[in-house]
Amino acid sequence: MSGDGAHRHDSALKHVTGEARYIDDLAEPAGLLHGCFGLSARAHARLAKVDLTAVRSAPGVVDVIGAGDVAGLNDVSPTHRHDEPLLAVDEVHYAGQPIFVVAATTRDLARRAAKLAKITYEPLEAVLDVARARDLVFPGMTLSRGDARKAIEAAPRRLSGTMRIGGQEHFYLEGQIAMALPGEDDDVTVFSSTQHPSEIQTMVAQVLGVAAHAVTVEVRRMGGGFGGKETQGNHYACAAALLAKRTGRAVKIRPDRDDDMVMTGKRHGFVVAYEVGFDDDGRIHGIDMRYDGQCGWSSDLSGPVTDRALFHADNCYFYPAVHLTSRPLKTNTVSNTAFRGFGGPQGMVGCERVIEEIAFATGLDPLEVRKRNFYGTSDRNVTPYHQKVEDNVVHEIVAELERSAAYAKRREAIAAFNRDNPVLKRGMALTPVKFGISFTLTAYNQAGALVHVYKDGSVHLNHGGTEMGQGLYVKVAQVVARTFSIALDQVKITATTTAKVPNTSATAASSGADLNGKAAEAAALTIRSRLVEFACENWSVPEEQVVFEAGRVRVGNQDMSFAELVKAAYFGRVSLSSTGFYKTPDIHWDRDAGRGKPFYYFAYGAACSEVVVDTLTGEYRLLRTDILHDCGHSLNPVIDRGQIEGGFVQGMGWLTMEELVWDAEGRLTTHAPSTYKIPTMSDRPRIFNVDFLADNPNRADTIYRSKAVGEPPLMLAISVLHALSDAVAATVGHRRCPGLDAPATPERVLAAIERLRAEAP
Ligand code: MTE
Ligand code: MOS
Repeated sequence: MSGDGAHRHDSALKHVTGEARYIDDLAEPAGLLHGCFGLSARAHARLAKVDLTAVRSAPGVVDVIGAGDVAGLNDVSPTHRHDEPLLAVDEVHYAGQPIFVVAATTRDLARRAAKLAKITYEPLEAVLDVARARDLVFPGMTLSRGDARKAIEAAPRRLSGTMRIGGQEHFYLEGQIAMALPGEDDDVTVFSSTQHPSEIQTMVAQVLGVAAHAVTVEVRRMGGGFGGKETQGNHYACAAALLAKRTGRAVKIRPDRDDDMVMTGKRHGFVVAYEVGFDDDGRIHGIDMRYDGQCGWSSDLSGPVTDRALFHADNCYFYPAVHLTSRPLKTNTVSNTAFRGFGGPQGMVGCERVIEEIAFATGLDPLEVRKRNFYGTSDRNVTPYHQKVEDNVVHEIVAELERSAAYAKRREAIAAFNRDNPVLKRGMALTPVKFGISFTLTAYNQAGALVHVYKDGSVHLNHGGTEMGQGLYVKVAQVVARTFSIALDQVKITATTTAKVPNTSATAASSGADLNGKAAEAAALTIRSRLVEFACENWSVPEEQVVFEAGRVRVGNQDMSFAELVKAAYFGRVSLSSTGFYKTPDIHWDRDAGRGKPFYYFAYGAACSEVVVDTLTGEYRLLRTDILHDCGHSLNPVIDRGQIEGGFVQGMGWLTMEELVWDAEGRLTTHAPSTYKIPTMSDRPRIFNVDFLADNPNRADTIYRSKAVGEPPLMLAISVLHALSDAVAATVGHRRCPGLDAPATPERVLAAIERLRAEAP
């Protein structure tokens, strides 16, 4: 792959050779203890008696703690609503909730000991299905513009329906893990696999009852986070720190995969109810949608996640009149959390169902309905939250993809195939994506960096962003290397730590490179301008005569290496270290009013997928996917391609094969790869064409005019769900909308085919 910035991931070789160090690979300190949580076996119950005697006396056990032993505040709620204790008090709210934690000399002994607790539960009513939930974990949000009710009633045609959308397990390859090292006084150092070291620091300090300055949190890399390590590392880090301070020994907690899956939050499932008024041309006049999110038992990030569902309930479509509400509902299941797209994917899946319904009602190709409802470029461009869409490129993307994927020609071929084949049916769909970039919590849109230049000209880079495989570290290093015009390998990428850059935001909302890239550039520019100033003075030349190029610096008619200039500057007593800071300009959001400009810009893309379904079994294959995605001026095209491919496949897993199943008692039955199916190599599209939208630098002033890419491609997988639906509809000559819920597993596909055949006249 050519093109500027196309550097491979800095750890690519180390990832595949196994040399990359994750927390469990760090050398273990002498006397290390291993922690294990004791989990609730009930979905909702009063804890009548918690008898830990047998746990305490089990072999190898050094310490056991319950809620009463928490030194500081027994709370790890990320939004400080104090609704999520570290260890359960009196009541448990989901099967899997931590009740106590034991530390033993080996991991095996800790796990065996945890099983010995005698817990007496008094069962309470458990709400397991979001459709039966009533209580909210967070106030819902409403977005509205115009009079949706009136517009729906006045429209020539109307329809309504509901859709269920399942959740998703993150299935990061490296599970949750933390290791805490006690220091002197209140000090503790915590290695945590987290997307949010500053949050871990805050939580550990709170649980220990010490100042934040006593707590240092470090993470070199995660083996995947996907949103599942934005808040879900809190328990492990806090418990490890507590046990470490109590015992004076280092403590590591690494749950096994089953406990990890049972204990930690996932993508929210949703039930979406919709009503839409439209006309015979397929144009929407008014729409009303309600998004009910399965939040689980505590708030965690459910407020902002369900908000983001509403922010994306328009996808690329203009609603002349609109009313959207969210209900973040409480259920006695694990507290759901961030997951790539953060509610946005569910928002879009809901609205794409509406588009599909209109297509079946009018007999138009769904793609035609999509295009007729696209946001305009100069008018028809106001979102339900009153921000104007000013950088719309969906028209170009879809036109280009329609051409490159030969949409019209393949439609005909598919129709011919379906006429000739009674058993196998093909289907295709082309779906667009528009994704808002920025944290909707405005304060999160800030970042810091720290750059040191050493006397030999080598550079040490640190910033608040974390590396989870997405290539943030290499992207930010590229920015620093380019600012100094030096080679990438002269920049040392270092582990994220709260001791170097404070008060950081989670690496999330796809904003890692936007925020940290700018902050690191600012730090490097400060040092560079000091070097220029020094050179001007030292060699008596004007500023224009100091030129940085390819690792060298020309100062007037002298030519020196970057290192030589740096060394001279050192002897000239110039500071060669600087912080950098960045905050996203021009954004604001008033949640109560439902108005503002929450997003700095939008990232766009589209995908066209073709499937073949066996109508006797419901099994299917993804034959071909074509993607055209907008990365602005890509910071790193090889990394971005990986993000697009990986995001698409992860989204496809969510919408087609990954299914979370709880039993009647509220226990998660899909808690290991044996029962929870994620996509593998053989599930990828047989033909997979991925391309970037060319010549579209970000109109917003982002780092090198790039666009965020971490989450948006996940939603390209909606094309697979709709291709499946198209194939299912082919069994009855496209006379009815299949109403396929997600995930469209083979079972669900088969059920939809049988239902359609039974209903069809
Ligand atoms: N890519 C890999 N390989 N691993 C991950 O865990 N997380 C995704 C995305 N891409 C993830 C990933 C999520 S949820 C987000 S928000 C972004 O990366 C975060 O990183 P960024 O802001 O640097 O894009
Ligand atoms: Mo990503 S869900 O914002 O961590």
